[in-house]
Amino acid sequence: MTVHLDIQRFNPETDRESHVKRYTLDVEPTDRVLDALTTINRNIDGTLTFRRSCAHGVCGSDAMIINGKEALACKTLIQDVAESDGATIRIEPARHMEVQRDLMVKQDTFFGNYRAVKPYFIPDETKPAPEKEYVQSIDERSVFDDPTKCILCGACYSACPVIDRNPNFIGPAAIVQAARFVFDSREKGLEARLDILDRPDGVWACENHFECTRVCPRDIKVTKMINFTKREIKKLREARGEQTNDGGAAT
Ligand code: SF4
Ligand code: FES
Repeated sequence: MTVHLDIQRFNPETDRESHVKRYTLDVEPTDRVLDALTTINRNIDGTLTFRRSCAHGVCGSDAMIINGKEALACKTLIQDVAESDGATIRIEPARHMEVQRDLMVKQDTFFGNYRAVKPYFIPDETKPAPEKEYVQSIDERSVFDDPTKCILCGACYSACPVIDRNPNFIGPAAIVQAARFVFDSREKGLEARLDILDRPDGVWACENHFECTRVCPRDIKVTKMINFTKREIKKLREARGEQTNDGGAAT
């Protein structure tokens, strides 16, 4: 089948504004959008710039907006976004991150927020250290199974309507990554991350729009994890006789 790809282009060295460039090519319906982009890059226009690495939905490099919705180009089949021969597919860079070039965005803030939640194991020193490995039951492990699937693609960060108004919001992905450790029974958990999560631009900025959950290519229940984290913060603050630092959002 023949498809038109309308791709948003921007070269910071020559362009003052982004513009849309159309590429027309023959593809198989079962090709992926990433295959089409690669064909353009290799055979039609070598200046087209985008990130990709694994090409199998693992590395999270190629999140972009395809026909208005965040998706991984390597996990999106042409037949799912092009209804018929001659269809047009619109491709834009992910939102809320400055465009570096074409479909490639700067991820400094996104990964800065990720680092801020301390996404690594911090042992709970109040419990005796095990002689061998830390033991965890299947039930304890299952509590944080969902957030372990996150590939840091940034689709949720791009789709989040709160970030339109509040670019300081830490964002859904960082909270999912924090939840991976907050709910780990072997971990120091929330206490080690309370300052960054319990603040107006932390979990409390989330307004439950569910856009993050809708676009997550790993089917993580992102909004649910954010609400679990809010609940955990309230529990901890109550146990300490303290108020949450929600800026009025939770009242
Ligand atoms: S939560 Fe989902 S959409 Fe967000 S970064 Fe992780 S994998 Fe991507
Ligand atoms: S290229 Fe790795 S997730 Fe798509």
